[in-house]
Amino acid sequence: MNVLIIGSGAREHALAWSVAKSEQVTAVFVAPGNGGTAMMGGKVHNVPFKATALDDLLHYAEDNSVELTVVGSEQPLELGIVDLFRRAGQKIVGPTQVAAQLESSKVFSKEFMQRHGIPTAAYQVFCDAAAAKQYLVLLQQSYPVVIKASGLCAGKGVFIALDQDEALKAISEIFENRIFGDAGNEVVIEEFLQGQEASVFVLTDGSQYRLFSPAQDHKRIGDSDTGKNTGGMGAYAPAPIVTAEVMRKVEERIIRPTLQGMAAEGSPYTGFLYVGLMIDHGEPSVVEYNARLGDPETQVVLPLLKSDFVVALQASVEGTLDNVPFEMHKKSATTVVLASDGYPDAYAIGKPITLADDAATMHDCLLFHAGTTYESGKLVTAGGRVLSVTALGSTLPESIKRAYNMVTKITFDGAYYRSDIGAKGV
Ligand code: AMP
Ligand code: GLY
Repeated sequence: MNVLIIGSGAREHALAWSVAKSEQVTAVFVAPGNGGTAMMGGKVHNVPFKATALDDLLHYAEDNSVELTVVGSEQPLELGIVDLFRRAGQKIVGPTQVAAQLESSKVFSKEFMQRHGIPTAAYQVFCDAAAAKQYLVLLQQSYPVVIKASGLCAGKGVFIALDQDEALKAISEIFENRIFGDAGNEVVIEEFLQGQEASVFVLTDGSQYRLFSPAQDHKRIGDSDTGKNTGGMGAYAPAPIVTAEVMRKVEERIIRPTLQGMAAEGSPYTGFLYVGLMIDHGEPSVVEYNARLGDPETQVVLPLLKSDFVVALQASVEGTLDNVPFEMHKKSATTVVLASDGYPDAYAIGKPITLADDAATMHDCLLFHAGTTYESGKLVTAGGRVLSVTALGSTLPESIKRAYNMVTKITFDGAYYRSDIGAKGV
């Protein structure tokens, strides 16, 4: 069977790695992929189409006997790739354009949660600066407040305003300076939730679902969660904050009502659902949904999956998810992101990357590429997040130690990483 994976990050490298392990798979095409997927060899090949070139991707799938397509990133989902592929009779893992609004429109997702009694922060929606500012000036509620552009902003559309000045400034930035363009046409102002964040990943066929290990991301650039928000600087799984009791509440109050609610509204949700949680004294509420797997969380969640990933993916498109094995290894995984100095702001690219000779064969270690490419036969940096270094261990501390040991084997000019990935879970 031939499988097409769409995207270019470390998440897609991990997807390609996991899919290629399946004995059923003959070829894995990654569009457009990165230096890491280019280097995998064997079954895995990069194909030079952007994740947003939907027609090209469909033609490629049709011309190359692709039997299953897996969408890694959110933009093609927002553009309706699942609808397009399904209309053409192609099997694809992901939600339809309407269902993907759980991620692509914060207004849609907040209103959906409200309709279905799913726990989330109290909120108001605004369509212009004057109304939002008036609301903030009259606001009785204490700060911080959270201000979010409704549309897709690559994880950068959220302001945590510590006082009224910051809040008013955020509103001006979004509505007047239009820093997010049309993604900022609507704004959600919501209550600040206390607690610890974790993410739960679901694979669903629209009614049945299976759960991966819960994970915890590290969104800030600096150690001890300081500095700017990033796409994610590292992750670990399973996250002990998501106890069996918390997971039971998440399934009962969030996952089942979400899937039932989407089905009842005529848009069954299929594919991966990322539930971003805030957990306060054991009580979970939803910070956000994403319509895909997380990056860097995928780089810890997939290595922990013991069962055949492709069998589960196929079952998810055929509506038979309950009939397939979906088991996790009884291990922990940690991934440390190596970024380019300056990220999440401006950074240089084209820096040669060197891997020590023993890096490729280190026990229970996996190197997933994000912003890398080949230039004149040499591996060089090509993005903000460059590499995602994953290690497994029988315990979380063991996986952390292994991951940081692997990090010492990699060098490039301006490499930056956090030194406390996983510490919160120990
Ligand atoms: P989002 O894009 O909605 O996931 O928001 C990005 C990050 O902002 C989250 O991962 C949280 O760290 C933070 N955040 C978002 N909404 C809230 C909230 N209501 N309360 C506290 N923190 C939040
Ligand atoms: N790690 C956060 C995300 O994938 O959205």
